[in-house]
Formats: sequence, C-alpha cells, structure tokens
Amino acid sequence: MYRPIIQESEDGSRKLTVLEIRERKAAGPMITMTTASDFTMAQLLDEAGVDIILVGDSLGMVVQGHANTLSVSIDEICYHGRAVARALGHAHMVGDMPFMSFQASPRQALKSAGKLLKHGSFESVKLEGGIHFADHVYQLVRSGIPVMGHVGLTPQSIHALGGFKIQGKTRDAADRIVEDAKALEQAGAYAILIEAMPPDMASLVTQAVSIPTIGIGAGRNCDGQVLVCTDLLGLSRGRMPKFAKSYAQLGDEAVDAARRYIAEVRSHAFPDAAHEYKPAMP
Ligand code: KIV
Repeated sequence: MYRPIIQESEDGSRKLTVLEIRERKAAGPMITMTTASDFTMAQLLDEAGVDIILVGDSLGMVVQGHANTLSVSIDEICYHGRAVARALGHAHMVGDMPFMSFQASPRQALKSAGKLLKHGSFESVKLEGGIHFADHVYQLVRSGIPVMGHVGLTPQSIHALGGFKIQGKTRDAADRIVEDAKALEQAGAYAILIEAMPPDMASLVTQAVSIPTIGIGAGRNCDGQVLVCTDLLGLSRGRMPKFAKSYAQLGDEAVDAARRYIAEVRSHAFPDAAHEYKPAMP
C-alpha cells in the first residue's frame, strides 16, 4: 500500500528529517553525529539516540585499513549503507560521496547521489568541497536529494593539501572557508560539516551561515559535533587525532576478552556444560 504521509514506525519512534536538523540551528539541542558502517554498530548508536549516522569514506581507513580515503567506491558506500539502514529507527542516515564520484560535473554528482539513495538506502548525501562544487550541490538539491557540505580539511584533497593538516589558520584562509560555506548554503545544503579548523575560525563559519554546522576538530562553537565511531568507543589502535575523545576503551576490552577466550579453549575450560547442548544419548 502507498502511504506517503505516515512516518511513525510501529514502536512510535520516528526518523529525524533534514527539516528538523536545520531547525536545530536556532532551536537546539546540539546535533550529535557519528559514523557507522555495519548493522551492529548502527543499532547500538541508534539505541543511544545519536541524531545522524554517517556512512563515511573514513571506512576506507578504519574498516579497510588504507592510509587514506581515496580508494573507497560508491558501491562500497552503498553496501555498508544497506547494512546500516536496517538498524536505524531514529537517526538520519547520510552517505559520503567518495573521491571522483562527483567532482567531474554536476551530472556525475547527480548520478552518484541517486545511486546512494536508490541502492544504499541513504536519506541524504555529504560531499567535500566549497564554492567550486556549489553547482553540484544545487543540482542535487533541486532533484530532491538533501546535501550536507564539508569544508575545512577535506581528506579527499589530501595530496593537494600536503597531508591531513589543520585548515583556516590565517584570517584570509578562514575567510575563504566562510565563502565556501556561504556558497554551499546558497546552493541549498541543509548542514555543513567543518573539519580541523581552529575554534575561533570555525566560529566565523558557524556565524556566517543560517544552516547548522557540525564540527570535528573545529571546537565547541559549532551547532553539533561528529566523531568517527571507532574513536568514540576507543576501538582504534595507534595514535588518535588531538580532537578525538574516546568515551570507552572497547579496543582494550576486546583484546582482553579474546585473550581469555584463547586461554579457556587451551585449558579446556570452554565450552563447559552451560555452553553445550544436552547429550543426545543419556
Ligand atoms: O568520512 C568520515 O567519516 C568523515 C568524518 C570527517 C566524520 O567525513
């Protein structure tokens, strides 16, 4: 049956829409966003009440083990999107437009974003870049595809930027990022992610636009915050970026649990009677 108006799920919960996300700029509360790339993680984060789940191209690093995000494909984002979508009852779901899936033209951007919505179950898309991609954003928005912008450090330009480096450190550089943000707003973006900027400079961006900004390494004055879920949960090994905060140490717990499992198997303590089926022959 075709039921275009009804949005409530059977348990009464409801998905957060881009219209409600936009309103948070004026009305609050602060927007919370994390990444997820599989069903189980998405289920936990949705249960916690996170507002937005991003299937980000950072999965190229944290899921696939690459040194950067450049090799991630649209099909991979769609694959992870379908798994995440099955878990979400509340959170709005955003899909990243991978490197070279949109840069060539607004037409290419439309084809790729359409694929994310049709085959990845996404409700909006995120793309990196500012004023040079305003036409691309406009094309998507007028085709009914909500867009989150992404300014400051744009990891898909890592080779042009000389590495993962903080952006907008001078007033001129920050002003250019403000112009990027304004162009994205004018093109119809519903929110803008700001990555790796000094907090005072990121504040200038937040003040310059009437749509919410969501920061990662951009200080406390954004309208929301985003963390990569492996950082948030302390699952990442190795050096963490300065801005990332872990609210648990699940990586250490996982190693400890696996070590205890190994020890119990080797000592024949597992499986014990509680973890065996009843014998077939009494
Ligand atoms: O891909 C990603 O995870 C991102 C982060 C900056 C949140 O874009």
